[in-house]
Amino acid sequence: MRVLVTGQGGREHALTWKLAQSPYVKEIYAWPGNPGIFEIAKPVSKEIDTLLALKEFAWKEKIDLTIVGPEKHLAAGIADLFQAEGLQVFGPSKNAARLESSKAFAKAFMVRHQIPTAKYFEADTEDSACSYIQEAKYQLVIKADGLAQGKGVYVTDSKQEAFLAVQQLFGGAFGEAGRKVVIEERLTGPEISVFVLVHQQNYCLLPIAMDHKRAYDNDLGPNTGGMGAIAPINIGSELEVEIEEKIIRPSVLGLSAEGIDFCGVLFIGLMLTPNGPKVLEYNVRMGDPETQALMPLIDSDLYQVITALLDHKPISLDLKKMVSCCVIVAAKGYPDKFQRGMSITLPALNRDQFIFHSGTELKGGQVVSVGGRVLSVVGLGSNLTTAKQNAYQAVEKVIMPDKFYRRDIGDNMV
Ligand code: AMP
Ligand code: GLY
Repeated sequence: MRVLVTGQGGREHALTWKLAQSPYVKEIYAWPGNPGIFEIAKPVSKEIDTLLALKEFAWKEKIDLTIVGPEKHLAAGIADLFQAEGLQVFGPSKNAARLESSKAFAKAFMVRHQIPTAKYFEADTEDSACSYIQEAKYQLVIKADGLAQGKGVYVTDSKQEAFLAVQQLFGGAFGEAGRKVVIEERLTGPEISVFVLVHQQNYCLLPIAMDHKRAYDNDLGPNTGGMGAIAPINIGSELEVEIEEKIIRPSVLGLSAEGIDFCGVLFIGLMLTPNGPKVLEYNVRMGDPETQALMPLIDSDLYQVITALLDHKPISLDLKKMVSCCVIVAAKGYPDKFQRGMSITLPALNRDQFIFHSGTELKGGQVVSVGGRVLSVVGLGSNLTTAKQNAYQAVEKVIMPDKFYRRDIGDNMV
């Protein structure tokens, strides 16, 4: 089979790496890819720079399955475009992708299906937002409705901060994404990431993971795309059952009941609050860096799992009885100003260590940094301590000037 993977980060490298292990997968193409991905997949020509051109490529190259990494391709309608030509895609339609691309749509969906989530108000104007804030009896989180690369969320401590956030959003801080604003009750509790591979009413859960979003140790500093991840997270079977019954199943069945033919990953960001688990957000793709932690834990053939799902067959997922720790090696200064173009030397790895490229490119035959998050270094172990040791031993051996990473990934677990 011939597979195409879209995207260019650590998430896509981990997915490609896992897919390449399948005896059914003969060839993988990557668009746009990165140097790590190109060690196992063929690059799609750089001349192909639109989804339309990519569809032509997939048609000509007889691609059997396209796996979409980033939300921007989904929100732009890649699944609709490919499916219209009879090309199979693992990734939801533009309509279904609204669960991620419109927070107002996602909140209204949760209300329609009684899925536990924070109380909210949808504001179309600054005036209505300010009136709501004025009256609110609880602390607030202010969110741009649209996609803002994870940055359009203000977790506020006071009404003053909430007013300021609303002013910034309606003032155009995130352009179109902030034309509508969602104001939510601020919840408290640990956050977990739940990944559900979905095709219509058929679904399969991956192990629960935990991201580390803040830039610095002890969850300090600005929010980032994610500085590390741990999986699996053991929350106890009672809570797992509650999450499946109150959140996962109603979400999957709710989509189906609304005539949304969901095919792809439903990523549910949850907060374990004192009043039970509540949904913070839906995403319609795998998480980064959770995917890098999760893929090495899966024993099953990912290609077979996805095709079984697409063919309406029952799915079982075999997992390694191990713990996984992913540490992001970033460029100093990330997520603000950071240097690009730093040359990178990767260490030799043992069989429980993996390095996925997050933000790299090849320059004159040398791998150099191109993004703020540069590498995703993963360690497996029979317990969290050994998983962390494996991850951090490899992190320390990566040679890159201005290397920066959190030293406490996995230290404060649920
Ligand atoms: P989102 O993009 O909606 O997941 O929000 C980004 C981050 O903001 C989440 O990972 C949480 O840490 C925080 N957050 C979002 N919504 C809430 C909420 N209602 N209460 C507390 N924190 C929140
Ligand atoms: N790790 C969170 C995300 O991918 O959105």
